[in-house]
Amino acid sequence: MTLKKKFETKIDPMRDRVKALIKEHGNHVISEVTIKQALGGIRGVKCLVCDTSNLDPMEGIRFRGYTIPELCEKLPKAQGGKQPLPEGLFYLLLVGELPTENDVKEITEEWQQRSKLPDYLVKILDSYPTDMHPMTQFSGGILALQKDSIFSKKYREGISKYDLWDPMYEDIMNLLAKLPSIASYIYRKTYKDNKHIKADPKLDWGANFAYMMGVENPEYKELMRLYLVLHSDHESGNVSAHTSHLVGSALSDAYYSLSAGIDGLAGPLHGLANQEVLRWIMNVKEKLGGGVPTKEQLTKFLWDTLNGGQVIPGYGHAVLRATDPRYKAQREFALEHLPDDEIFQVVSLLYEVTPDILKKHGKAMNPWPNVDAHSGCLQVYYGVTEYDFYTVLFGVSRAIGILTQLVWSRALGFSIERPKSISTDWLLEQVK
Ligand SMILES: CC(C)(COP(=O)(O)OP(=O)(O)OC[C@H]1O[C@@H](n2cnc3c(N)ncnc32)[C@H](O)[C@@H]1OP(=O)(O)O)[C@@H](O)C(=O)NCCC(=O)NCCS
Repeated sequence: MTLKKKFETKIDPMRDRVKALIKEHGNHVISEVTIKQALGGIRGVKCLVCDTSNLDPMEGIRFRGYTIPELCEKLPKAQGGKQPLPEGLFYLLLVGELPTENDVKEITEEWQQRSKLPDYLVKILDSYPTDMHPMTQFSGGILALQKDSIFSKKYREGISKYDLWDPMYEDIMNLLAKLPSIASYIYRKTYKDNKHIKADPKLDWGANFAYMMGVENPEYKELMRLYLVLHSDHESGNVSAHTSHLVGSALSDAYYSLSAGIDGLAGPLHGLANQEVLRWIMNVKEKLGGGVPTKEQLTKFLWDTLNGGQVIPGYGHAVLRATDPRYKAQREFALEHLPDDEIFQVVSLLYEVTPDILKKHGKAMNPWPNVDAHSGCLQVYYGVTEYDFYTVLFGVSRAIGILTQLVWSRALGFSIERPKSISTDWLLEQVK
């Protein structure tokens, strides 16, 4: 059975479950909202539904019920590789079952076939100035592809709302197929004299991305596979996924929705933190004239940052209250492949000193590192030193989760989002 057919078989039972839930228990209360939450980023209010992943504050993320170590063990690998293939994670998120090696191979082949960038897109990407941030180029490239949205075309022609998932499926497959090509095109154009590398049809999605970026060390292909799995999905309330969900709820297509989500990922409190971490570390190293700083030196720089009213990038989280398992997975990779690397040593020292400093500072609810505290040092080790590009890597991965959620939203006919806003006067009135 093709993946599309398999997905289709999952839709009706889920529609029935959701319909029954609304009919039989629609008025059951699941969350209350305090004034602090209304004024504080709607933190913790249960008002989104997401079946692809679940984030526990202490344990971290589970993808369709599986922890990261479980996934690393159970998802199919490339020949001779140890890391899980992101195609397998996509399959799992979409249909809720672990894929076979053959299922994964079929996705790799299908994405290869859909991966060619149209000429008009290449011209648009070429027209962007090289000093435009890679995230702006990435978002713009995704948005430009909207011209070819099958969802929008079908909508204009007239399509039953029950069939909307079908053209959305086609759009998300086309988009996921093209994202590594768009990202690597931006990378080579911006940093490698506009010299591009054509896709290799023998390679899987992650390995091909690594190849097109021009990193020759075969270990980088393995890192890329792991990276693309780790950053993919984090429930639906994070800024990028929620933005895409919101835009998609107006029946905007996958291109509009993902481009908007990528714009959210470009914020320094969200995905851009990976770039900020490296910038922070490089700044410290530069000020000290190179080498690995001592714990005392790092402590001083951390306090300087906090006393300057800035955040420590890569630390803290809106939901997590322990070390992010995505951080741990990257740390394990580093311990195996680059234990003596200088920047890895700085990252490790930061892990030793930062939590205590954040606790003393007394503000952050979570003093522990998140995914972004670790990813950059692995990139630098393999030669991807241009840290402004890091959030694009994150974006390619996050698209797996965002787009899977999006096609499920259309399959289940989720409503247009419209929370109620209230004024400050109204709030004051409530507590008189
Ligand atoms: C991720 C983040 C945005 C979560 O925000 P949040 O849910 O509001 O976090 P908290 O509830 O812990 O914030 C409480 C206070 O601690 C501060 N705080 C949180 N993390 C901090 C950090 N890493 N460094 C310094 N201060 C921090 C907040 O800015 C806030 O200060 P305020 O009361 O003056 O507004 C926040 O931890 C942060 O800015 N981290 C650094 C950026 C980062 O790594 N982002 C990637 C996340 S995956």
